[in-house]
Amino acid sequence: MSLDWIASAGAPLRGRVRVPGDKSISHRAVMFAAIAEGTSRVTGFLEGEDTRATARVFAQLGVRIDAPAASERIVHGVGLDGLRGSTEPLDCGNAGTGMRLLAGLLAGQRFDSVLVGDESLSKRPMRRVTEPLSRMGARIDTHDGLPPLRIHGSAPLQGIDYASPVASAQVKSAVLLAGLYADGSTRVVEPHPTRDYTERMLHAFGAHIDFAPGEAVITGRPTLRATDVDVPADFSSAAFFIVAATIVPGSDLLIEAVGMNPRRTGLLDALRLMGADITVESPREQGGEPVADLRVRAARLRGIEVPAALVPDMIDEFPALFAAAACAEGATTVSGAAELRVKESDRIAAMAAGLRTLGIAVGERPDGAVIEGGNARGGDVDSHGDHRIAMSLAVLAQRASGDVRIRDVANVATSFPGFIELAGDAGLRIESVSPTA
Ligand code: S3P
Repeated sequence: MSLDWIASAGAPLRGRVRVPGDKSISHRAVMFAAIAEGTSRVTGFLEGEDTRATARVFAQLGVRIDAPAASERIVHGVGLDGLRGSTEPLDCGNAGTGMRLLAGLLAGQRFDSVLVGDESLSKRPMRRVTEPLSRMGARIDTHDGLPPLRIHGSAPLQGIDYASPVASAQVKSAVLLAGLYADGSTRVVEPHPTRDYTERMLHAFGAHIDFAPGEAVITGRPTLRATDVDVPADFSSAAFFIVAATIVPGSDLLIEAVGMNPRRTGLLDALRLMGADITVESPREQGGEPVADLRVRAARLRGIEVPAALVPDMIDEFPALFAAAACAEGATTVSGAAELRVKESDRIAAMAAGLRTLGIAVGERPDGAVIEGGNARGGDVDSHGDHRIAMSLAVLAQRASGDVRIRDVANVATSFPGFIELAGDAGLRIESVSPTA
């Protein structure tokens, strides 16, 4: 279903908000609970289309998953070898995480599987996972490096020592999940440390895994034990409120219980370098992850050169950072972020096009952009079917001099169901409308 938004300058953001559960952790909680022995309870589960697609895939593979309440799943694990093959394709929807992690997990099964996705996922590169998996002995056919993935079962897997050329938690996780089914041990070394949820959670489920930033070693054929997972709020969803409260004058907003894994919070460092006023309150632990309340007050931002070392720790936050940069004084330069071109959309091109339409000058580079801060005006922009582009442009619209129509926003439901309602409660002005020609 197609949907547009009209967004325009709203009120200062005030009060408290709590954003939905972390997408990366929700995917993994269902996957690992499914192949563990016993029953696991997942609370704070993200009711987004991406994570629900993953739960549906496991149901199709013979795992009983109950949903006694919203954001809760009871997963009746079937053990490492208890999944049953499906003759139907397994539909990962829009989720790169779902498809890439499943590729690793299914490579070690005795049955064949076919993984498919929506139009956007069908254009995303899969060789980055099929190449290391085939080195382990997996047999996976792609459509010229793209989905669908045809995974042939009964391929004996061998542990490998893999130096990944890309800083990607999805690649690392796919190899480690295949490593669960492999003979011997499997080691992955990354060019830069990425989010370590797979390592932490597999350890909690009883896998034999050693890890440090940038490196993990797993031993094959463990018995995974059911473990309850309490999913913290998603930093990437909080990011839209962090930027909105920063750029809308007079704002003072508390964002509650946000996941603060250091491999996710690079945006805080970048915004602080730009002059943002963000305080971390009541730091604590939830389900083995650091969480905190974030108090964000409006601030005048100045352009910066985003330090390259921050890029992997804020890879999903660049669309939001582009919106902040559009409101800063002076230029903001992003480089070393070519990965943005292979996300749910080409996020460099999509944000550059949206910002230019709203009167902000952007110079595009192969691996980033230079954004000249200025005064945004109204206009007609396109999300390119990408949830994070839609929400970032809606945030920027809070500072625009006219209405901003954002086209094709239904995709926001993949990661942030209820976004416009929560945004409205906080003070943002965003309205859903039917698409016009
Ligand atoms: C994710 C890893 C990142 C991120 C994605 C979620 C994960 O992708 O962009 O939204 O859950 O492992 P890459 O591994 O491709 O960088």
